[in-house]
Amino acid sequence: MEDFLPIKGTDHVEFYVGNAKQAAHYYRTGFGFANTAYSGLETGNRATASYVMEQGKIRLVLTTSLSPDHAIARHTHLHGDGVGVIALSVPDAEKSYYESTKRGATGAIPFTEVTDEYGTFRYAAIRAYGDTLIKFVDRSDYNGVFAPGYQARPGYEEWEGNGRNRYTGYGLAHIDHIVGNVELGAMNRWVNFFAHTMGFSQLLHFDDKDISTEYSALMSKVMQDGSGKVKFPINEPAEGKKKSQIQEYLDYYMGPGAQHLACSTGDIIATVTRLRENGVEFLRVPHTYYEMLEARVGNINEPIDKLAELGILVDRDEEGYLLQIFTKPVQDRPTVFYEIIERHGSRGFGKGNFQALFESIEREQALRGNL
Ligand code: FE2
Repeated sequence: MEDFLPIKGTDHVEFYVGNAKQAAHYYRTGFGFANTAYSGLETGNRATASYVMEQGKIRLVLTTSLSPDHAIARHTHLHGDGVGVIALSVPDAEKSYYESTKRGATGAIPFTEVTDEYGTFRYAAIRAYGDTLIKFVDRSDYNGVFAPGYQARPGYEEWEGNGRNRYTGYGLAHIDHIVGNVELGAMNRWVNFFAHTMGFSQLLHFDDKDISTEYSALMSKVMQDGSGKVKFPINEPAEGKKKSQIQEYLDYYMGPGAQHLACSTGDIIATVTRLRENGVEFLRVPHTYYEMLEARVGNINEPIDKLAELGILVDRDEEGYLLQIFTKPVQDRPTVFYEIIERHGSRGFGKGNFQALFESIEREQALRGNL
């Protein structure tokens, strides 16, 4: 069957934040991203300030509003810092917009092309869960830094164009998946949205019995595009004795939105060691987890005492194993966080770790008085 919405990968993820200058500093000193491009008052942008942060193939954009009446100011007022735009690289932004809206997606930004001295940049956007937009970006005829209106940061001019050398930072390589949290009962509606309007298919299914704890529960389905490059797990809260961590997110984000971005690394021990040294905070894992580990996952290449020291989780399925770790929320509201993941054959998401993750998150939740 022909893919009516071919996708080349994730182009970037744009965060709307209260203070983009300070957020850029956190992503640089904590996570090792380089600020490669900027748009703001100094570049003639009177409305917003944006910092493009890059590491490996990951591109994050941190944007703040310069006035209280801008849509981004309203977004940060309501949601706190969070993901405003998930941008996908597509061969044809106009066709992507046409095909998805024809199938029921709500348009947010009609097809637009902007030409400057570096070429033509094309994009469009549709609405996804909550106030999150999915943007279709075609930069195949554009050789400038990031997008029209942006200026390269000193030292990164040579990064312009395709095929440039990429800054490797602390080893974060690409976005493995982006998880969305939606309201109770809304998961299947969003699964259908991605299936029908974007041609995604369902990858895996967790049922709540697998991952519920005494206090929290969630339901999750994973949607992926035709190439398998873009994976969007969708969570909804499930009934539990106490508040689900998904419900806690929804209460503080004031609705659905992106819960976590998973960034891949080829050496999770080295990457997490650097991030910890830099002050990035990770969820703690009960030590008993590691006593049971070898019995649960069998032989792995990494020394278990090192994984225990760093709090890295391991899971195995028929195809192989994966290593993963979750940060604490990266803003004051208990909403968005990061996952660092290293895959050894497994294409799963750490199903066997949900129990340990839940217990760990619940301890944090209890500290905040929200359990
Ligand atoms: Fe994840």
